Amino acid sequence: MADARGARASPCCDCVKQAWLSDHLCWGGAGGHYAHDLLPLPYTDEALEHVVARIAEAQEVLRRRILVENVSSYLTFADSTITEWDFVAETARRADCGILLDVINVYVSAVNHGFDPQQYILALPRERVGQIHLAGHTDLGTHLLDTHDGHVVEPVWQLYRLAIERFGPVSTLIESDDHVPELEVLLAETERARTIESQVCCDAARCT
Ligand SMILES: [Fe+2]
Repeated sequence: MADARGARASPCCDCVKQAWLSDHLCWGGAGGHYAHDLLPLPYTDEALEHVVARIAEAQEVLRRRILVENVSSYLTFADSTITEWDFVAETARRADCGILLDVINVYVSAVNHGFDPQQYILALPRERVGQIHLAGHTDLGTHLLDTHDGHVVEPVWQLYRLAIERFGPVSTLIESDDHVPELEVLLAETERARTIESQVCCDAARCT
């Protein structure tokens, strides 16, 4: 079964020659019903075993290492026994996959659930983060909504600096799904990301 799917999927990947292949660490359907959304997992040993097996199967079929991306959330499961950051880190270690660190998703969930976003970033294994995402969001007063709308806010830029300090010059994508800003604004945000990366890397070079 895996061989048959691999025979179809792997040549496709070989042809596209994408730098990364990623998917979100989440679920989106049950019992034949689909939410068409990125729903958070319960952070339990049972869920960990399940996603590790699924990622291992995907990597076997695709014959390459994939990245898994953290999602934002608005509710948590009462059954969760471990933190989200430990779940993501342990998933990557056990499945031998990479991590796509979405910094805005960390920030949105941190504000919504009241955890420290720096602790999240510092808990991820250095060698496994293969790409970083930045984006804007919407503040609804009672909670933050991950809309990929508007600008990257100052606290997210600070978290990005921390991420570059920890993971090095990781490729970064600024996502924008709605109310896409003017090109000049997007270019300015791209330049700011480049500037942070070069500042951090220059500082690190001076220290060694
Ligand atoms: Fe993302």
